[in-house]
Amino acid sequence: MKYLLVHDENEVAFVFAQLKWAWFLRNWDGPAEHERPPAYIIMVLDKRLNDRADFDAGIAAQTMLLGASALGLGGCIVRTINRYELGKFYQLPEYIEIVLVIAIGKPAQQVVLDATDQKGNMEYWTDETGVHHVPKRSFDELIYKPTSNNDQD
Ligand SMILES: Cc1cc2nc3c(=O)[nH]c(=O)nc-3n(C[C@H](O)[C@H](O)[C@H](O)COP(=O)(O)O)c2cc1C
Repeated sequence: MKYLLVHDENEVAFVFAQLKWAWFLRNWDGPAEHERPPAYIIMVLDKRLNDRADFDAGIAAQTMLLGASALGLGGCIVRTINRYELGKFYQLPEYIEIVLVIAIGKPAQQVVLDATDQKGNMEYWTDETGVHHVPKRSFDELIYKPTSNNDQD
């Protein structure tokens, strides 16, 4: 995995325009100008070194987000990217594949983790006060309990 660092103002504006934000917020066009991330890390795969590196990408992205939050920053993993335009802009050769973009910035919004509803719906939403709600499955639901042999008798 390699990382393209974006913090120049014009580049940041270009990268922003190549990302699709918050699929479930259908009436929201993405962050307003004053809320936009000031930096991005574009994670790329050098295919001369590796064919695929999906696990590595996830591990690296999560670690960066943890590091950002330890510094009082926030981040967002973005996979819905206009890869064609971004590749053209940075003149990426065919062996460099864009995997993910990680937005980095100062969080402007309060986020609340809620329990999922009865149907297990995980669509996030923003309430009228601007608080962002992210439904999560409960700890209990995350634990897989195999059927014991006794139960099958
Ligand atoms: C692999 C992956 C791809 C994602 N792609 C996008 C994306 O293209 N656009 C976006 O707004 N959010 C995307 N997200 C969602 C955000 O990064 C983030 O997960 C979401 O806002 C909810 O936060 P939470 O899952 O940390 O609670 C993606 C998340 C993951 C894990």
